[in-house]
Amino acid sequence: LRGRSLSVTSLSGLPRWEVEELPVEELLLFEVAWEVTNRVGGIYTVIQTKAKTTADEWGDNYFLIGPYFEHNMKTQVEQCEPVNDAVRRAVDAMNKHGCQEMIKLRFEVLQNSATGGVISANIFSPSSHLLLSAHKLALPGSSTRNCKHCNLVFFRLAVESCGGSDGNCEISEHFVAQEDVVTPNGLNVKKFSAVHEFQNLHAMYKARIQDFVRGHFYGHLDFDLEKTLFLFIAGRYEFSNKGADIFLESLSRLNFLLRMHKSDVTVVVFFIMPAKTNNFNVETLKGQAVRKQLWDIAHSVKEKFGKKLYDALLRGEIPDMNNVLDRDDLTIMKRAIFSTQRQSLPPVTTHNMIDDSTDPILSTIRRIGLFNNRTDRVKVILHPEFLSSTSPLLPMDYEEFVRGCHLGVFPSYYEPWGYTPAECTVMGIPSVTTNLSGFGCFMQEHVADPTAYGIYIVDRRFRSPDDSCNQLTQFLYGFCKQSRRQRIIQRNRTERLSDLLDWRYLGRYYQHARHLTLSRAFPDKFHVELTSPPTTEGFKYPRPSSVPPSPSGSQASSPQSSDVEDEVEDERYDEEKEAEKDRLNIKSPFALSHV
Ligand code: UDP
Ligand code: G6P
Repeated sequence: LRGRSLSVTSLSGLPRWEVEELPVEELLLFEVAWEVTNRVGGIYTVIQTKAKTTADEWGDNYFLIGPYFEHNMKTQVEQCEPVNDAVRRAVDAMNKHGCQEMIKLRFEVLQNSATGGVISANIFSPSSHLLLSAHKLALPGSSTRNCKHCNLVFFRLAVESCGGSDGNCEISEHFVAQEDVVTPNGLNVKKFSAVHEFQNLHAMYKARIQDFVRGHFYGHLDFDLEKTLFLFIAGRYEFSNKGADIFLESLSRLNFLLRMHKSDVTVVVFFIMPAKTNNFNVETLKGQAVRKQLWDIAHSVKEKFGKKLYDALLRGEIPDMNNVLDRDDLTIMKRAIFSTQRQSLPPVTTHNMIDDSTDPILSTIRRIGLFNNRTDRVKVILHPEFLSSTSPLLPMDYEEFVRGCHLGVFPSYYEPWGYTPAECTVMGIPSVTTNLSGFGCFMQEHVADPTAYGIYIVDRRFRSPDDSCNQLTQFLYGFCKQSRRQRIIQRNRTERLSDLLDWRYLGRYYQHARHLTLSRAFPDKFHVELTSPPTTEGFKYPRPSSVPPSPSGSQASSPQSSDVEDEVEDERYDEEKEAEKDRLNIKSPFALSHV
């Protein structure tokens, strides 16, 4: 039985028990969450990405219980018969007692090519009534309930927890006090065989975003797309909690700084936060149609020109450049250019907003006047819907979009963990986070110089809102001043941190929490030798070797390099060699042994 793999005896820091006495066949693991197969926010990501490591440990004895939604059923799970007798009996009994039909499902983890696609963890999708009672039972905290027929052991995990155990948010503090174990959130880290592969993906997806921007700003493309940086904030639409308020204020200050210093850099900022809408707005759709039309015209003129050139060369002539385009071509092109004239500014939102006049992002944009004027160096686009590869407007999924951007900005005021900056990190995209988020605290605790690695941590805990806003502005302005080469080096460094966030290592906290709970519930069967969680205390990921040992301020943490743009290829490989050297030198406590 896979359950036997529970009898881990060799990992340091983990509790032990005597295998003979452990009734592994009887042990079932249920995880109950509203976001099982149901994406609302980060919890979905916890469950979806953690499924593989948990299933590796518990096999068919692992069950997820979530709400039943027909659509999610069709797209995310595979129906199957209960493998486990006890579960089958429970399902039969519930059916008999008038509960809705119970369905045991196979959980297909989509978008998870890194771990090999289909994962055969089981999902138990009961009626919402059962779900709620299960929640109710689970919520009182760690306890043992002796039912007549079986022992139920409940443990509640701080699935959204802070990195430090320093109690930096209420949820964590509360849970730590009750539950002893803080479980940082991990991800399935995709490693490419070529180190620069993720850089190539950045270039590829950036080109797709550039195309969207060409359409959105048609008629106003007086900025250089090669010197345009794409920033974004994404997540549930909680204006202040997610720090959209301070971000907008900083953008207004950044706009001022870039204009004052006559910078040739343009910043396009995306707000990906779902709100109530009535579909895309006409002006936005028109932008993409205009771009497409111009592309088609350029393409057909090029074809015609190419044919004439070819014929001329066959005749041994150089064509007369004044005659390669005929009158019709010129007329078509003139008309096309005429169609790019617009009376209005490029829109700040892609959709018709239902609460347009009271929407907090739009209201702030109106107040600070970031209207996508030609003179603005900072342009703003609110996309009030999560991204999808099937969108007619910006057909990219979220991962592709993140890869194509330059910087994720998540200056949250309240964020128990915060997946979005962690996701950026594993894709090698720098991000801004705060010391009021679990992720930010985790990085502060385990990375010696987070800024050098492209993790900018805004102090929202000890500074006034205005000071935090200034700090964020300085981060953004410093980022805009980097050369392409510096950005490439920084992305390499960011990506190096991904090992810290891999479930292969962080999954141990969950494992420890489960073992601890079992040992408390059955002290005679499960002996806990060491009650401390995996030891990571005091561990710091060292500063990159090319960064001077004592940086004075954030500038010193920026990659040091010549400012010559595009001289990247040879040097990139030097940097990669250095990255490899650093990687080998770092003795991560997480990397000591593999689960
Ligand atoms: N997300 C997404 N599509 C988008 C934007 C965001 O799927 O277009 C996901 C993102 O990948 C992340 C989650 O939304 O996993 C947000 O999680 P986070 O922990 O940052 O915030 P929460 O919603 O839990 O407060
Ligand atoms: C990646 C690609 C390079 C490209 C660069 C652009 O590193 O491999 O070929 O030049 O991205 O970086 P940027 O920060 O300007 O988008």
